[in-house]
Amino acid sequence: MTTPDTQTATEAQRRRTFAIIAHPDAGKTTLTEQLLLLGGAIQIAGAVRAKGERRRTRSDWMKIEQDRGISVATSVMTFEYAGQIFNLLDTPGHEDFSEDTYRTLSAVDAAVMVIDAAKGIEAQTRKLFEVCRLRDIPIVTFINKMDREAREPLELLDEIEKTLALDVTPATWPIGSGRQFSGVYDRQDATLRLLTEGGERDEKLEGPEDPRIDGLLPHGQGDLLREGIEVASMYNDFALDSFREGHLTPIYFGSALRGFGVKHLLDGLARYAPPPSARRADVRVVEPEEEKLSGFVFKIQANTDLNHRDRVAFLRICSGKLRKGARLKQVRTGKSIPVNAPLFFFAKERQVAEEAWPGDVVGIANHGVLRIGDTLTDGEELNFRGVPSFAPEILRRIRLDDPMLAKKLRKALDQLADEGVVQVFRPMDGSQPVVGVVGQLQLDVLSSRIQAEYGVQVGFEATSWSTMRWIATEDRVALDRFLRTAPSQMAEDHDNEPVAFFNSEWGRKRSEEEWPQLKFLALREQH
Ligand code: G4P
Repeated sequence: MTTPDTQTATEAQRRRTFAIIAHPDAGKTTLTEQLLLLGGAIQIAGAVRAKGERRRTRSDWMKIEQDRGISVATSVMTFEYAGQIFNLLDTPGHEDFSEDTYRTLSAVDAAVMVIDAAKGIEAQTRKLFEVCRLRDIPIVTFINKMDREAREPLELLDEIEKTLALDVTPATWPIGSGRQFSGVYDRQDATLRLLTEGGERDEKLEGPEDPRIDGLLPHGQGDLLREGIEVASMYNDFALDSFREGHLTPIYFGSALRGFGVKHLLDGLARYAPPPSARRADVRVVEPEEEKLSGFVFKIQANTDLNHRDRVAFLRICSGKLRKGARLKQVRTGKSIPVNAPLFFFAKERQVAEEAWPGDVVGIANHGVLRIGDTLTDGEELNFRGVPSFAPEILRRIRLDDPMLAKKLRKALDQLADEGVVQVFRPMDGSQPVVGVVGQLQLDVLSSRIQAEYGVQVGFEATSWSTMRWIATEDRVALDRFLRTAPSQMAEDHDNEPVAFFNSEWGRKRSEEEWPQLKFLALREQH
Protein backbone atom coordinates (compact mmCIF):
# COMPACT_ATOMS: atom_id res chain seq x y z
CA MET A 1 0.00 0.00 0.00
CA THR A 2 2.89 2.37 0.69
CA THR A 3 5.48 1.56 -1.98
CA PRO A 4 8.21 4.22 -2.07
CA ASP A 5 9.21 5.66 -5.43
CA THR A 6 12.74 6.92 -6.14
CA GLN A 7 11.82 9.80 -8.43
CA THR A 8 9.13 10.99 -6.03
CA ALA A 9 11.66 10.87 -3.19
CA THR A 10 14.18 12.91 -5.22
CA GLU A 11 11.61 15.50 -6.28
CA ALA A 12 10.19 15.79 -2.75
CA GLN A 13 13.70 16.40 -1.39
CA ARG A 14 14.03 19.46 -3.67
CA ARG A 15 10.84 21.12 -2.48
CA ARG A 16 10.73 23.91 0.08
CA THR A 17 7.20 25.07 0.81
CA PHE A 18 6.86 28.12 3.04
CA ALA A 19 4.83 31.19 3.97
CA ILE A 20 5.77 34.63 5.27
CA ILE A 21 4.24 35.71 8.55
CA ALA A 22 4.29 39.37 9.48
CA HIS A 23 2.33 42.18 11.04
CA PRO A 24 0.87 44.43 8.30
CA ASP A 25 3.44 46.93 7.03
CA ALA A 26 6.49 45.01 8.24
CA GLY A 27 7.48 44.49 4.62
CA LYS A 28 6.03 41.15 3.56
CA THR A 29 5.09 42.30 0.05
CA THR A 30 8.44 43.99 -0.52
CA LEU A 31 10.29 40.91 0.68
CA THR A 32 8.15 38.63 -1.49
CA GLU A 33 9.13 40.67 -4.52
CA GLN A 34 12.79 40.48 -3.68
CA LEU A 35 12.59 36.72 -3.22
CA LEU A 36 10.87 36.36 -6.58
CA LEU A 37 13.52 38.57 -8.19
CA LEU A 38 16.27 36.33 -6.83
CA GLY A 39 14.34 33.28 -7.96
CA GLY A 40 14.01 34.76 -11.46
CA ALA A 41 10.23 34.62 -11.29
CA ILE A 42 9.81 38.34 -11.90
CA GLN A 43 12.05 40.88 -13.61
CA ILE A 44 11.33 44.14 -11.82
CA ALA A 45 10.52 45.15 -8.29
CA GLY A 46 6.93 46.35 -7.94
CA ALA A 47 5.55 43.56 -10.10
CA VAL A 48 3.72 41.76 -7.32
CA ARG A 49 1.89 44.85 -6.22
CA ALA A 50 1.15 45.94 -9.78
CA LYS A 51 -0.27 42.55 -10.58
CA GLY A 52 -2.44 42.68 -7.50
CA GLU A 53 -3.82 46.05 -8.51
CA ARG A 54 -4.64 44.92 -12.02
CA ARG A 55 -6.40 41.88 -10.77
CA ARG A 56 -8.38 43.78 -8.22
CA THR A 57 -10.07 46.06 -10.68
CA ARG A 58 -11.54 43.04 -12.40
CA SER A 59 -14.45 42.29 -10.17
CA ASP A 60 -16.98 44.05 -8.08
CA TRP A 61 -16.35 42.37 -4.81
CA MET A 62 -12.66 42.84 -5.08
CA LYS A 63 -13.35 46.55 -5.27
CA ILE A 64 -13.79 46.43 -1.53
CA GLU A 65 -10.24 45.47 -0.95
CA GLN A 66 -9.05 48.00 -3.46
CA ASP A 67 -10.96 50.71 -1.60
CA ARG A 68 -9.44 49.64 1.65
CA GLY A 69 -6.02 49.08 0.20
CA ILE A 70 -5.60 45.52 1.33
CA SER A 71 -5.26 42.22 -0.34
CA VAL A 72 -8.00 39.66 0.19
CA ALA A 73 -6.85 37.16 -2.39
CA THR A 74 -3.91 34.94 -1.63
CA SER A 75 -1.87 32.96 -4.06
CA VAL A 76 1.04 30.63 -4.56
CA MET A 77 4.35 31.62 -6.10
CA THR A 78 6.80 29.04 -7.34
CA PHE A 79 10.44 29.73 -8.14
CA GLU A 80 13.70 27.90 -8.45
CA TYR A 81 16.82 28.77 -6.50
CA ALA A 82 20.02 26.87 -5.68
CA GLY A 83 18.65 23.75 -7.33
CA GLN A 84 15.53 23.75 -5.19
CA ILE A 85 11.91 24.47 -5.99
CA PHE A 86 10.41 27.01 -3.61
CA ASN A 87 6.68 27.29 -3.17
CA LEU A 88 5.81 30.54 -1.42
CA LEU A 89 2.25 30.54 -0.16
CA ASP A 90 1.04 34.09 0.25
CA THR A 91 -1.21 35.05 3.13
CA PRO A 92 -3.49 38.06 3.51
CA GLY A 93 -2.07 40.74 5.75
CA HIS A 94 -5.37 42.03 7.11
CA GLU A 95 -6.35 40.41 10.36
CA ASP A 96 -10.01 40.08 9.34
CA PHE A 97 -8.80 37.34 7.04
CA SER A 98 -6.64 35.59 9.58
CA GLU A 99 -8.52 32.31 9.14
CA ASP A 100 -7.22 32.18 5.61
CA THR A 101 -3.71 32.55 6.96
CA TYR A 102 -4.16 29.83 9.57
CA ARG A 103 -5.36 27.46 6.91
CA THR A 104 -2.45 28.33 4.67
CA LEU A 105 -0.04 27.61 7.51
CA SER A 106 -1.42 24.07 7.62
CA ALA A 107 0.03 23.58 4.13
CA VAL A 108 3.62 24.81 4.66
CA ASP A 109 6.75 23.15 5.98
CA ALA A 110 8.50 26.34 7.12
CA ALA A 111 7.84 30.04 7.68
CA VAL A 112 9.73 33.30 7.38
CA MET A 113 8.88 35.72 10.17
CA VAL A 114 9.38 39.34 9.12
CA ILE A 115 9.91 41.87 11.88
CA ASP A 116 10.13 45.64 11.52
CA ALA A 117 13.47 46.60 13.11
CA ALA A 118 11.96 49.70 14.71
CA LYS A 119 8.84 48.01 16.04
CA GLY A 120 9.89 44.53 17.08
CA ILE A 121 7.25 41.88 17.73
CA GLU A 122 3.75 43.20 16.94
CA ALA A 123 0.32 41.75 17.70
CA GLN A 124 -0.24 39.92 14.44
CA THR A 125 3.30 38.51 14.36
CA ARG A 126 2.67 37.03 17.71
CA LYS A 127 -0.66 35.43 16.81
CA LEU A 128 0.71 33.92 13.63
CA PHE A 129 3.75 32.70 15.47
CA GLU A 130 1.50 30.87 17.93
CA VAL A 131 -0.16 29.06 15.04
CA CYS A 132 3.28 28.02 13.74
CA ARG A 133 4.18 26.81 17.19
CA LEU A 134 1.04 24.65 17.42
CA ARG A 135 2.35 22.84 14.37
CA ASP A 136 6.07 23.02 15.24
CA ILE A 137 6.75 24.85 11.98
CA PRO A 138 10.42 25.87 11.74
CA ILE A 139 10.90 29.62 11.46
CA VAL A 140 13.58 31.73 9.83
CA THR A 141 13.51 35.36 10.99
CA PHE A 142 14.16 38.43 8.86
CA ILE A 143 14.60 41.70 10.70
CA ASN A 144 13.64 44.24 8.07
CA LYS A 145 14.03 47.99 7.52
CA MET A 146 17.58 48.21 8.88
CA ASP A 147 18.02 51.18 6.53
CA ARG A 148 15.75 53.10 8.92
CA GLU A 149 16.38 53.97 12.52
CA ALA A 150 16.16 50.62 14.28
CA ARG A 151 16.21 49.29 17.79
CA GLU A 152 19.44 47.78 19.07
CA PRO A 153 19.95 44.25 17.71
CA LEU A 154 20.44 42.91 21.22
CA GLU A 155 17.13 44.38 22.33
CA LEU A 156 15.31 42.87 19.33
CA LEU A 157 16.79 39.43 19.89
CA ASP A 158 15.91 39.59 23.58
CA GLU A 159 12.36 40.50 22.72
CA ILE A 160 11.99 37.57 20.34
CA GLU A 161 13.39 35.20 22.94
CA LYS A 162 11.25 36.50 25.78
CA THR A 163 7.91 37.25 24.15
CA LEU A 164 7.87 34.20 21.89
CA ALA A 165 9.86 31.83 24.13
CA LEU A 166 11.94 30.96 21.10
CA ASP A 167 15.73 30.52 21.05
CA VAL A 168 17.54 32.74 18.59
CA THR A 169 20.84 32.48 16.79
CA PRO A 170 22.03 35.49 14.78
CA ALA A 171 23.12 34.18 11.37
CA THR A 172 24.22 37.69 10.47
CA TRP A 173 24.99 40.74 12.59
CA PRO A 174 24.10 44.27 11.45
CA ILE A 175 26.52 47.16 11.33
CA GLY A 176 24.66 50.33 12.31
CA SER A 177 21.16 51.25 11.24
CA GLY A 178 19.31 54.02 9.40
CA ARG A 179 21.70 56.28 7.50
CA GLN A 180 24.58 54.59 9.27
CA PHE A 181 23.59 51.12 8.12
CA SER A 182 26.62 49.71 6.29
CA GLY A 183 25.75 46.06 5.98
CA VAL A 184 26.00 42.82 7.93
CA TYR A 185 28.61 40.35 9.01
CA ASP A 186 27.88 36.75 8.02
CA ARG A 187 28.99 34.72 11.00
CA GLN A 188 29.12 31.40 9.26
CA ASP A 189 31.22 32.46 6.26
CA ALA A 190 33.14 35.28 8.00
CA THR A 191 32.07 37.57 5.18
CA LEU A 192 31.24 41.23 5.27
CA ARG A 193 28.21 41.99 3.13
CA LEU A 194 28.21 45.70 2.41
CA LEU A 195 25.25 47.84 1.41
CA THR A 196 25.82 49.50 -1.97
CA GLU A 197 23.76 51.70 -4.25
CA GLY A 198 22.69 48.72 -6.31
CA GLY A 199 22.19 46.28 -3.42
CA GLU A 200 25.11 44.45 -1.87
CA ARG A 201 28.77 43.45 -2.24
CA ASP A 202 30.72 40.75 -0.38
CA GLU A 203 34.18 40.98 1.20
CA LYS A 204 35.57 37.70 2.47
CA LEU A 205 37.44 38.15 5.76
CA GLU A 206 40.03 36.08 7.59
CA GLY A 207 37.75 36.18 10.62
CA PRO A 208 36.38 38.69 13.12
CA GLU A 209 39.92 39.97 13.86
CA ASP A 210 40.74 40.70 10.23
CA PRO A 211 42.43 44.18 10.17
CA ARG A 212 40.80 44.94 6.79
CA ILE A 213 37.53 45.51 8.62
CA ASP A 214 38.46 49.09 9.54
CA GLY A 215 39.36 49.96 5.97
CA LEU A 216 36.15 48.51 4.58
CA LEU A 217 33.77 50.24 6.98
CA PRO A 218 33.16 53.93 7.72
CA HIS A 219 35.09 55.43 10.61
CA GLY A 220 34.25 53.91 14.00
CA GLN A 221 32.17 51.05 12.67
CA GLY A 222 35.01 48.52 12.91
CA ASP A 223 34.82 48.66 16.70
CA LEU A 224 31.05 48.51 16.56
CA LEU A 225 31.24 45.37 14.47
CA ARG A 226 33.85 43.67 16.66
CA GLU A 227 31.69 44.38 19.67
CA GLY A 228 28.65 43.00 17.83
CA ILE A 229 30.43 39.84 16.81
CA GLU A 230 31.34 39.24 20.43
CA VAL A 231 27.75 39.73 21.57
CA ALA A 232 26.50 37.43 18.79
CA SER A 233 28.89 34.69 19.88
CA MET A 234 27.12 34.53 23.23
CA TYR A 235 24.00 33.13 21.58
CA ASN A 236 23.41 29.46 20.82
CA ASP A 237 25.09 28.07 17.75
CA PHE A 238 22.77 27.03 15.00
CA ALA A 239 21.50 23.48 15.50
CA LEU A 240 19.49 21.92 12.69
CA ASP A 241 17.46 19.67 14.99
CA SER A 242 16.29 22.51 17.25
CA PHE A 243 15.45 24.62 14.23
CA ARG A 244 13.44 21.89 12.53
CA GLU A 245 11.56 21.18 15.74
CA GLY A 246 10.61 24.86 15.88
CA HIS A 247 12.62 25.72 19.01
CA LEU A 248 15.39 27.83 17.45
CA THR A 249 15.25 30.54 14.80
CA PRO A 250 18.21 31.85 12.79
CA ILE A 251 18.07 35.63 12.44
CA TYR A 252 18.95 37.61 9.33
CA PHE A 253 19.10 41.39 9.23
CA GLY A 254 18.40 43.41 6.10
CA SER A 255 16.37 45.86 4.11
CA ALA A 256 13.87 44.39 1.69
CA LEU A 257 13.37 47.79 0.11
CA ARG A 258 17.06 48.09 -0.72
CA GLY A 259 17.29 44.45 -1.77
CA PHE A 260 19.76 43.91 1.03
CA GLY A 261 20.16 40.74 3.10
CA VAL A 262 17.47 38.90 1.15
CA LYS A 263 19.98 36.59 -0.52
CA HIS A 264 21.30 35.64 2.92
CA LEU A 265 17.77 34.80 3.94
CA LEU A 266 17.08 32.73 0.83
CA ASP A 267 20.41 30.92 1.17
CA GLY A 268 19.44 30.19 4.77
CA LEU A 269 16.10 28.79 3.67
CA ALA A 270 17.76 26.70 0.96
CA ARG A 271 20.23 25.34 3.48
CA TYR A 272 17.99 24.75 6.49
CA ALA A 273 14.30 24.65 5.64
CA PRO A 274 12.97 21.11 5.57
CA PRO A 275 11.62 19.30 2.54
CA PRO A 276 8.10 17.88 2.91
CA SER A 277 7.93 15.52 5.83
CA ALA A 278 5.64 12.66 6.78
CA ARG A 279 2.05 13.76 7.53
CA ARG A 280 -0.37 12.21 9.91
CA ALA A 281 -3.71 11.16 8.44
CA ASP A 282 -6.55 9.60 10.41
CA VAL A 283 -5.65 6.00 9.60
CA ARG A 284 -1.87 6.16 9.19
CA VAL A 285 1.19 8.33 8.63
CA VAL A 286 1.82 9.22 4.99
CA GLU A 287 5.41 9.48 3.73
CA PRO A 288 6.09 11.93 0.87
CA GLU A 289 8.02 9.42 -1.23
CA GLU A 290 5.09 7.04 -1.47
CA GLU A 291 4.16 6.23 -5.01
CA LYS A 292 0.45 6.92 -4.53
CA LEU A 293 -0.78 10.46 -4.51
CA SER A 294 -2.40 12.16 -1.54
CA GLY A 295 -3.06 15.77 -0.65
CA PHE A 296 -5.54 18.15 0.90
CA VAL A 297 -7.37 21.31 -0.08
CA PHE A 298 -6.49 24.25 2.18
CA LYS A 299 -7.88 27.10 0.18
CA ILE A 300 -10.48 27.90 -2.43
CA GLN A 301 -10.31 31.01 -4.53
CA ALA A 302 -13.24 32.20 -6.55
CA ASN A 303 -13.25 34.45 -9.56
CA THR A 304 -9.60 33.99 -10.50
CA ASP A 305 -10.81 34.30 -14.03
CA LEU A 306 -14.01 36.25 -14.34
CA ASN A 307 -14.60 35.11 -17.91
CA HIS A 308 -15.06 31.60 -16.68
CA ARG A 309 -16.44 32.24 -13.20
CA ASP A 310 -14.28 29.43 -11.97
CA ARG A 311 -13.34 28.36 -8.52
CA VAL A 312 -9.84 27.09 -7.95
CA ALA A 313 -9.07 24.68 -5.14
CA PHE A 314 -5.51 24.77 -3.85
CA LEU A 315 -4.24 21.26 -3.24
CA ARG A 316 -1.13 20.69 -1.17
CA ILE A 317 0.43 17.44 -2.33
CA CYS A 318 1.61 15.27 0.56
CA SER A 319 2.78 12.16 -1.30
CA GLY A 320 3.19 10.79 -4.79
CA LYS A 321 3.18 12.35 -8.22
CA LEU A 322 0.28 14.25 -9.71
CA ARG A 323 -0.10 13.76 -13.43
CA LYS A 324 -2.16 15.94 -15.66
CA GLY A 325 -5.32 14.08 -16.53
CA ALA A 326 -5.32 11.97 -13.35
CA ARG A 327 -8.56 11.13 -11.59
CA LEU A 328 -8.45 11.51 -7.85
CA LYS A 329 -10.75 10.28 -5.17
CA GLN A 330 -12.48 12.90 -3.04
CA VAL A 331 -12.53 10.92 0.19
CA ARG A 332 -15.40 12.86 1.80
CA THR A 333 -17.85 11.92 -0.94
CA GLY A 334 -16.17 8.99 -2.69
CA LYS A 335 -16.45 10.93 -5.98
CA SER A 336 -13.82 10.71 -8.68
CA ILE A 337 -12.43 14.14 -9.57
CA PRO A 338 -10.72 14.68 -12.92
CA VAL A 339 -7.57 16.81 -12.78
CA ASN A 340 -7.24 17.75 -16.40
CA ALA A 341 -5.41 21.01 -16.04
CA PRO A 342 -3.64 21.39 -12.71
CA LEU A 343 -2.37 24.95 -12.44
CA PHE A 344 0.96 26.12 -11.19
CA PHE A 345 0.80 29.69 -10.01
CA PHE A 346 4.05 31.12 -11.27
CA ALA A 347 4.22 34.80 -10.48
CA LYS A 348 4.10 35.68 -14.15
CA GLU A 349 1.21 33.68 -15.49
CA ARG A 350 -0.84 30.69 -14.63
CA GLN A 351 0.66 27.71 -16.38
CA VAL A 352 -0.58 24.23 -16.95
CA ALA A 353 1.75 21.83 -15.18
CA GLU A 354 2.54 18.41 -16.54
CA GLU A 355 3.32 16.97 -13.16
CA ALA A 356 3.60 18.00 -9.54
CA TRP A 357 5.31 16.48 -6.52
CA PRO A 358 5.09 16.41 -2.73
CA GLY A 359 5.38 19.93 -1.33
CA ASP A 360 3.89 21.45 -4.46
CA VAL A 361 0.61 23.27 -4.46
CA VAL A 362 -1.54 23.05 -7.54
CA GLY A 363 -4.76 24.75 -8.44
CA ILE A 364 -7.63 22.58 -9.52
CA ALA A 365 -10.42 24.37 -11.31
CA ASN A 366 -13.81 23.06 -10.30
CA HIS A 367 -17.39 24.19 -10.05
CA GLY A 368 -17.99 23.90 -6.37
CA VAL A 369 -17.30 20.21 -5.87
CA LEU A 370 -14.18 20.65 -3.78
CA ARG A 371 -14.18 22.31 -0.41
CA ILE A 372 -11.64 23.34 2.18
CA GLY A 373 -10.33 20.41 4.18
CA ASP A 374 -11.03 17.84 1.44
CA THR A 375 -8.50 15.02 1.10
CA LEU A 376 -7.78 13.74 -2.41
CA THR A 377 -6.06 10.38 -2.98
CA ASP A 378 -5.27 7.81 -5.62
CA GLY A 379 -8.07 5.75 -4.15
CA GLU A 380 -7.09 5.19 -0.55
CA GLU A 381 -9.58 5.89 2.21
CA LEU A 382 -7.66 8.35 4.40
CA ASN A 383 -8.19 11.87 5.68
CA PHE A 384 -5.66 14.52 6.56
CA ARG A 385 -6.65 16.54 9.57
CA GLY A 386 -5.34 19.88 10.54
CA VAL A 387 -7.05 22.51 8.41
CA PRO A 388 -8.46 24.48 11.31
CA SER A 389 -11.71 26.36 11.98
CA PHE A 390 -11.79 28.69 14.94
CA ALA A 391 -14.90 29.65 16.90
CA PRO A 392 -15.88 33.06 15.48
CA GLU A 393 -16.72 35.90 17.85
CA ILE A 394 -18.80 37.97 15.49
CA LEU A 395 -22.10 36.21 14.88
CA ARG A 396 -24.75 37.83 12.68
CA ARG A 397 -28.11 36.65 11.50
CA ILE A 398 -28.72 36.93 7.79
CA ARG A 399 -31.63 39.15 6.82
CA LEU A 400 -33.20 38.28 3.51
CA ASP A 401 -35.48 40.96 2.10
CA ASP A 402 -37.08 38.82 -0.59
CA PRO A 403 -38.18 35.42 0.78
CA MET A 404 -38.60 34.13 -2.80
CA LEU A 405 -34.82 34.05 -3.01
CA ALA A 406 -34.31 31.72 -0.03
CA LYS A 407 -33.15 28.84 -2.21
CA LYS A 408 -30.62 31.00 -4.02
CA LEU A 409 -29.35 32.30 -0.73
CA ARG A 410 -28.87 28.79 0.52
CA LYS A 411 -26.76 27.93 -2.49
CA ALA A 412 -24.71 31.10 -2.10
CA LEU A 413 -24.03 30.41 1.56
CA ASP A 414 -23.13 26.79 0.90
CA GLN A 415 -20.63 27.76 -1.76
CA LEU A 416 -19.12 30.61 0.21
CA ALA A 417 -18.77 28.37 3.26
CA ASP A 418 -17.02 25.76 1.06
CA GLU A 419 -14.57 28.48 0.15
CA GLY A 420 -14.04 29.43 3.78
CA VAL A 421 -15.22 33.02 3.20
CA VAL A 422 -17.45 32.72 6.29
CA GLN A 423 -18.70 30.06 8.62
CA VAL A 424 -22.39 29.33 8.22
CA PHE A 425 -24.63 27.94 10.96
CA ARG A 426 -28.21 26.79 10.53
CA PRO A 427 -30.22 27.20 13.72
CA MET A 428 -32.15 24.14 14.81
CA ASP A 429 -35.35 26.14 15.22
CA GLY A 430 -35.39 26.75 11.46
CA SER A 431 -34.76 30.50 11.70
CA GLN A 432 -32.54 32.36 9.21
CA PRO A 433 -28.90 31.24 8.99
CA VAL A 434 -26.25 32.77 11.20
CA VAL A 435 -22.82 33.65 9.86
CA GLY A 436 -19.64 33.78 11.89
CA VAL A 437 -16.66 35.94 10.99
CA VAL A 438 -13.44 37.26 12.48
CA GLY A 439 -13.90 40.87 11.31
CA GLN A 440 -16.36 43.31 9.79
CA LEU A 441 -14.54 43.31 6.49
CA GLN A 442 -15.48 39.68 5.93
CA LEU A 443 -19.16 40.66 6.22
CA ASP A 444 -18.69 43.33 3.58
CA VAL A 445 -17.07 40.86 1.22
CA LEU A 446 -19.83 38.35 1.94
CA SER A 447 -22.75 40.65 1.19
CA SER A 448 -21.19 42.10 -1.92
CA ARG A 449 -20.36 38.68 -3.30
CA ILE A 450 -23.85 37.34 -2.60
CA GLN A 451 -25.23 40.34 -4.43
CA ALA A 452 -22.79 40.26 -7.34
CA GLU A 453 -22.62 36.53 -7.93
CA TYR A 454 -26.06 35.30 -6.92
CA GLY A 455 -28.19 38.42 -7.32
CA VAL A 456 -29.46 38.27 -3.75
CA GLN A 457 -29.57 41.28 -1.46
CA VAL A 458 -28.88 40.46 2.17
CA GLY A 459 -28.31 42.37 5.37
CA PHE A 460 -27.00 41.33 8.74
CA GLU A 461 -28.71 41.60 12.09
CA ALA A 462 -26.93 41.71 15.38
CA THR A 463 -27.41 38.74 17.69
CA SER A 464 -26.97 38.61 21.43
CA TRP A 465 -24.33 35.90 21.08
CA SER A 466 -20.71 36.61 21.76
CA THR A 467 -19.28 33.19 21.07
CA MET A 468 -20.00 29.65 19.93
CA ARG A 469 -18.59 26.19 20.50
CA TRP A 470 -18.64 22.93 18.61
CA ILE A 471 -20.08 20.12 20.68
CA ALA A 472 -18.27 16.81 20.63
CA THR A 473 -19.40 13.68 22.41
CA GLU A 474 -19.95 9.97 22.05
CA ASP A 475 -23.03 10.26 24.23
CA ARG A 476 -25.87 10.79 21.70
CA VAL A 477 -28.54 10.84 24.41
CA ALA A 478 -26.88 13.62 26.35
CA LEU A 479 -26.31 15.54 23.13
CA ASP A 480 -29.98 15.29 22.15
CA ARG A 481 -31.06 16.42 25.58
CA PHE A 482 -28.68 19.35 25.51
CA LEU A 483 -29.80 20.44 22.03
CA ARG A 484 -33.41 20.43 23.18
CA THR A 485 -32.72 22.73 26.12
CA ALA A 486 -32.72 25.80 23.86
CA PRO A 487 -33.19 25.01 20.13
CA SER A 488 -32.93 28.67 19.17
CA GLN A 489 -29.38 28.72 20.50
CA MET A 490 -28.33 25.51 18.82
CA ALA A 491 -27.31 25.07 15.21
CA GLU A 492 -25.52 22.87 12.71
CA ASP A 493 -22.38 23.97 10.95
CA HIS A 494 -21.55 23.49 7.30
CA ASP A 495 -20.62 19.85 7.91
CA ASN A 496 -23.79 19.22 9.95
CA GLU A 497 -21.81 19.20 13.20
CA PRO A 498 -23.73 20.51 16.22
CA VAL A 499 -22.82 23.87 17.71
CA ALA A 500 -24.13 26.02 20.56
CA PHE A 501 -24.22 29.82 20.79
CA PHE A 502 -23.58 31.64 24.05
CA ASN A 503 -24.40 35.13 25.26
CA SER A 504 -21.47 35.31 27.62
CA GLU A 505 -18.41 33.54 28.89
CA TRP A 506 -20.32 32.90 32.04
CA GLY A 507 -23.09 31.10 30.15
CA ARG A 508 -20.57 28.98 28.32
CA LYS A 509 -18.81 27.98 31.51
CA ARG A 510 -22.10 27.11 33.12
CA SER A 511 -23.03 24.78 30.25
CA GLU A 512 -19.61 23.15 30.49
CA GLU A 513 -20.14 22.51 34.18
CA GLU A 514 -23.67 21.26 33.80
CA TRP A 515 -22.91 18.96 30.87
CA PRO A 516 -19.69 17.12 31.69
CA GLN A 517 -20.58 14.45 29.09
CA LEU A 518 -20.11 17.05 26.33
CA LYS A 519 -16.97 18.72 25.07
CA PHE A 520 -17.28 22.36 24.01
CA LEU A 521 -14.58 23.01 21.41
CA ALA A 522 -13.24 26.39 20.28
CA LEU A 523 -11.25 24.84 17.46
CA ARG A 524 -12.28 22.25 15.00
CA GLU A 525 -10.08 20.50 12.48
CA GLN A 526 -11.95 20.07 9.25
CA HIS A 527 -12.16 16.80 7.41
P1 G4P B 1 3.34 44.44 4.13
O1 G4P B 1 3.18 43.66 2.86
O2 G4P B 1 3.98 43.65 5.22
O3 G4P B 1 2.13 45.15 4.59
O4 G4P B 1 4.42 45.56 3.85
P2 G4P B 1 4.95 46.23 2.52
O5 G4P B 1 5.95 45.36 1.86
O6 G4P B 1 3.80 46.72 1.73
O7 G4P B 1 5.75 47.43 3.15
C1 G4P B 1 5.13 48.42 3.94
C2 G4P B 1 5.85 49.73 3.78
O8 G4P B 1 7.19 49.57 4.28
C3 G4P B 1 6.00 50.18 2.34
O9 G4P B 1 6.03 51.58 2.35
C4 G4P B 1 7.38 49.68 1.97
O10 G4P B 1 7.96 50.40 0.92
C5 G4P B 1 8.12 49.89 3.26
N1 G4P B 1 9.27 48.99 3.41
C6 G4P B 1 9.31 47.66 3.24
N2 G4P B 1 10.55 47.20 3.46
C7 G4P B 1 11.32 48.27 3.77
C8 G4P B 1 12.70 48.42 4.09
O11 G4P B 1 13.48 47.49 4.15
N3 G4P B 1 13.11 49.68 4.37
C9 G4P B 1 12.26 50.75 4.33
N4 G4P B 1 12.78 51.95 4.61
N5 G4P B 1 10.96 50.65 4.02
C10 G4P B 1 10.50 49.42 3.74
P3 G4P B 1 4.75 52.46 2.00
O12 G4P B 1 5.21 53.86 1.95
O13 G4P B 1 3.64 52.14 2.93
O14 G4P B 1 4.31 51.91 0.64
P4 G4P B 1 4.90 52.25 -0.78
O15 G4P B 1 4.19 53.47 -1.14
O16 G4P B 1 6.38 52.38 -0.63
O17 G4P B 1 4.51 51.08 -1.60
